[in-house]
Formats: sequence, structure tokens, C-alpha cells
Amino acid sequence: MSRRKLYEGKAKIIYEGPEPGTVIQHFKDDATAFNAQKKDVIEGKGVINNRISEFLMLRLGEMKVPTHFIKALNMREQLVKAVEIIPLEVIIRNVAAGSICKRLGLEEGQSLPRPLIEYCYKNDALGDPLVGEEHIFAFEWATPQEMDEIYSMAMRCNDILSGIFAGIGLKLIDFKLEFGRLYEGDEMRVVLADEISPDSCRLWDRETQKRLDKDRFRHDMGEVAESYQEVARRLSVLP
Ligand code: TMP
Repeated sequence: MSRRKLYEGKAKIIYEGPEPGTVIQHFKDDATAFNAQKKDVIEGKGVINNRISEFLMLRLGEMKVPTHFIKALNMREQLVKAVEIIPLEVIIRNVAAGSICKRLGLEEGQSLPRPLIEYCYKNDALGDPLVGEEHIFAFEWATPQEMDEIYSMAMRCNDILSGIFAGIGLKLIDFKLEFGRLYEGDEMRVVLADEISPDSCRLWDRETQKRLDKDRFRHDMGEVAESYQEVARRLSVLP
């Protein structure tokens, strides 16, 4: 099959879709960490993340969070609406872990007083630096109205996703979302895009605190593929 590759990222490839206004997201097994200084292949990760992300996007859609998702195409690919990605990584944190611990001297596992939202400027060359709304508005990465929508959608996603994961014995420690502008005729709206998977979330078992996410790869904790499979199995999304 010859089709046009539009973009290749660290974990996904975006191909031209079958109709205007659509693109195909292809999930690779490649994994990177620390801004691609660490690289490896996690066998089967693409298949699992494709299914997990499909499942979560559909649940969020049912709960009236607009998303780019259209339909699954095969084990590694999904059809999504073409959007203009807003160049921000939107991070929501419920429990301290990862970069916020280093930055603010917090202890990993410490509950945060309330869910915290952080924005990083999506730029690999710069290592996705943390930015504030002042930078976002000054450099026109997004408008104040878009940021209001992003904030409320992100908090809503946190409520829904925390509930879904609690139902399968997992705690949603933190996660990263990306949003895009969807143009429909003269109208533009902001929708949830990219993926939601153990690559982009921290998920801890509620009883044992076992990490079932990409931290296992980042910190060489072993059982990486098995942990992704475990999340998929608990969500009942693998055949
Ligand atoms: P952090 O603690 O490293 O800033 O990560 C916060 C959350 O964002 C965590 O769930 C992992 C996710 N994340 C990504 O999805 N992509 C990235 O490039 C980074 C650094 C984090």
C-alpha cells in the first residue's frame, strides 16, 4: 500500500487519510525517554497503545469530551480527524512523581493538594520546557479562550480517567494530553488529540503501588511489555 507519510514522531507515524480531513495514526513499538537519549523497542507496545487509546478516547467522547478519534482500522492504526496540533503538552498531576519532584523537591507518591495542571512547549530541540500562560499568549501558541477550553477539558478528562482507572485497581498519578484545532467549514473548535496510553500516563496499582507505565522503561525496572499488557488486560481491550 502506498500512502503519504505526513509526519513521523518518536512513537507514532501519521499518514494521509482516505478522505480529506482525516489522517491515520500508526502506533510503533519504539520507545524513547529523556528526550530520546534512551531508545528501545517494546515488543507489542504499538498494538496495546492503539487499543488502550481507542478505548479511552471513546469513553471520553461518550462523556462529551470532543476528541479526534473516528475509528479503529487495524491492530496498529486508527483513523482520526486531521487537526492542527497546539504546540503544548498539557500535564495533569494528582500525585507527585517525575519532573515535579525534582523541580519542587517533593517526595514521590505525595498527594497533591489539588490536581495541578502544567504546560510544556512542545519542542524536542528544547526538551519540551515548562511554560506559563504568559508565554503561551505572548508567543501566540494558543489564545486565552482556547486555554480556558483546554483547562476545563483537561480537568474533565482527569475526573473521567481517574474513575476508569480506579475501577480496575489503578491510580492515575499524572498524564499528558495534547489538543488540536479542528476546522469544520467556518468553525474551529479545540478537540483532544494524540493518544492516551501507558506511554503518556503514570499508573500505579492501588494496592501494591507497582508501576504499570513507561517509568518501567525510563528507569530500567523490567517487565515493561508485561505491564502495558496488564493495563490492557484490566481494561479488557485485548482479544
Ligand atoms: P514528567 O513528570 O516527566 O514531567 O511527566 C509527566 C507526565 O507526562 C507523565 O505521565 C509522563 C507524561 N509525559 C509524556 O507523555 N511525554 C513526555 O515527553 C514527558 C516528559 C512526559
